[in-house]
Amino acid sequence: VMTTTASASPEVENIAHRGGAAFAPENTIAACAMAQVQGADTCEFDIQQTKDRQLVLIHDQTLGRTTNVEDVFPGRSPWRVSDFTLPEIKRLDAGSWFSPRYRGERVPTLEQALRATGNSRIGLLLEIKHSPGNRDIDRLVADKLEDTRSWWSNKRLAVQAFDWQSMRTFHTLMPSIPIALLGKPSTDRLPELAQYARGINLPHSDLTPEYVDEVHKQGMHIYSGTANRPTVLRRLISYGVDGIMTNRPDHLDAVKREA
Ligand code: G3P
Ligand code: CA
Repeated sequence: VMTTTASASPEVENIAHRGGAAFAPENTIAACAMAQVQGADTCEFDIQQTKDRQLVLIHDQTLGRTTNVEDVFPGRSPWRVSDFTLPEIKRLDAGSWFSPRYRGERVPTLEQALRATGNSRIGLLLEIKHSPGNRDIDRLVADKLEDTRSWWSNKRLAVQAFDWQSMRTFHTLMPSIPIALLGKPSTDRLPELAQYARGINLPHSDLTPEYVDEVHKQGMHIYSGTANRPTVLRRLISYGVDGIMTNRPDHLDAVKREA
């Protein structure tokens, strides 16, 4: 995801948001496979923790929007991920809500995603979701990455989160893994953050060419949050961003080819 050099990369990294959310159900192995065909360099996935302390890829703190949990466990509202065990979550269909074509798709574990992508060129950008239900999540992610290191050591892999303090701690647990901070730090904080973060990832509407330059001056990379329209993608590239998260890796791939 991020190189070890301090300068901006010449090629914009095409990052499939939630594994690629426009053509397949978000945060699934199928989405990431589709994104790769569409030109993505990297799949971004969101990580949450189950009741039995397993790690699964799902964006929301609850299972309702992206699975059929309300049918399978009708009495368990509000269907928090952290109130369900992994065997329970594995019974859920994570594809039908999106399209009947994806019926039977499951909520993947982090381990399954690492295994499924291990032999491919696709990079991984893992977003750790911090919440009271995800109490041990940083340590669990670090342990899982340590245990599976040989699966991903030859590919780009980075970790990101909105919680910068947790990312500082994560960096001490796994100093070799590049960290991106979600949000827009004031420029006077960048030198301090550059001590442990390799990149900043902020909403595209908050990006300016001046801010891009300030982040690059600190030797960090800068990533745009989700953008899908070709006009916006072109503008972000003109600012010199190092990567863009998108639900439309196909659009970004086409725009990159125009240059
Ligand atoms: O666009 C930034 C993204 O990674 C954080 O947003 O809510 O899609 O995880 P979300
Ligand atoms: Ca995310």
